[in-house]
Amino acid sequence: MNILGIETSCDETAAAVVTDGRQIRSNVISSQVAVHRPYGGVVPELASRHHLELITAVVEQALAQAGLSVVDLDAVAATYGPGLASSLLVGLNFGKSLAFGLGRPFVPVNHMEAHLYSAVLDSREGSEAVFPLLSLIVSGGHTLLVRVTSYRDYQILGQTLDDAAGEAFDKVAKLLGLGYPGGPVIDQLAAQGRADAVEFPRSLLHDPGDDFSFSGLKTAVMYYHRQHPTTPVADVCASFQEAVVDVLVGKLVRAAERLGISALAASGGVSRNRRFRQRLAQETERHGWRIHLAPADLCTDNAAMIAAIAFHRLPAGSGDRLAVDIAPSCGLETVT
Ligand code: KG4
Ligand code: ZN
Repeated sequence: MNILGIETSCDETAAAVVTDGRQIRSNVISSQVAVHRPYGGVVPELASRHHLELITAVVEQALAQAGLSVVDLDAVAATYGPGLASSLLVGLNFGKSLAFGLGRPFVPVNHMEAHLYSAVLDSREGSEAVFPLLSLIVSGGHTLLVRVTSYRDYQILGQTLDDAAGEAFDKVAKLLGLGYPGGPVIDQLAAQGRADAVEFPRSLLHDPGDDFSFSGLKTAVMYYHRQHPTTPVADVCASFQEAVVDVLVGKLVRAAERLGISALAASGGVSRNRRFRQRLAQETERHGWRIHLAPADLCTDNAAMIAAIAFHRLPAGSGDRLAVDIAPSCGLETVT
């Protein structure tokens, strides 16, 4: 079953072909980072215009790399939300039109569910996820702790009360004058800095709930930087990153202990962070738990995760899926 996935929820125009939900035949991503960099963040109007310009070529490239023509596709999938409305419209309508023209099923995909699934999208035999799974999705727009009992049954245990983890990386990088996107730059610089140079707050780490908060940490970095402009930026980055990682890993581990869940997963752009991956590996090894991490190129936005989860949604797609509209602010609760 060859499924074409399309992803345009933010600033990446992406298309991919995945066979049977596991085998990635192509994974094309056209990044608009350079377009948005001068503005220090994604400009929605520019993003949608670029999606429109790029989408046809990106889909053609995904088909060519997979060695397939459109008629070989068994279904077409595209992200319906959450994301930027004007960006979502491009990919969703392109996908619907293509499916309609081909007479193949159309599968609308929830971007957060696709991120979640990217952690277990592993074609090796014996590496399948076991349930229950405790999944942390840490992206530019979301920080979600989810208990997964099947790929239909999601219980959101906690989420951020203010900024998402990736948003904190991006905002801190901006206030330190490091450019956009912030995560990769801070990851690089932190490797050369001292994580114990500055004691930044670990918000909600010792709160009994599973929610997160990162805006106080961002503000603390801002004040520290104003008051101590000579502290090496690498030290500030390493200390900030350590605070984020302490909270993410600490709360994930504590929830796993409390719920008695021994299979963990992490996905989304921030799960690409090297310190996060290192700390998570240490903790899961110490506990004898299983950890599913998306490979680096599947952590950030991509269409392979869209095509892959669509395979699991296809049998349920008996209704009129072409009628599905964009849902810019939806969460995992809209998964059907
Ligand atoms: O999942 P994603 O591509 O987009 C959303 O759906 O939001 O995540 C993008 C986010 C950005 O905030 C970016 O700064 C962050 O992921 N990110 C990282 C790293 N690479 C990307 N954060 C920390 N360390 C990284 N290495
Ligand atoms: Zn994303």
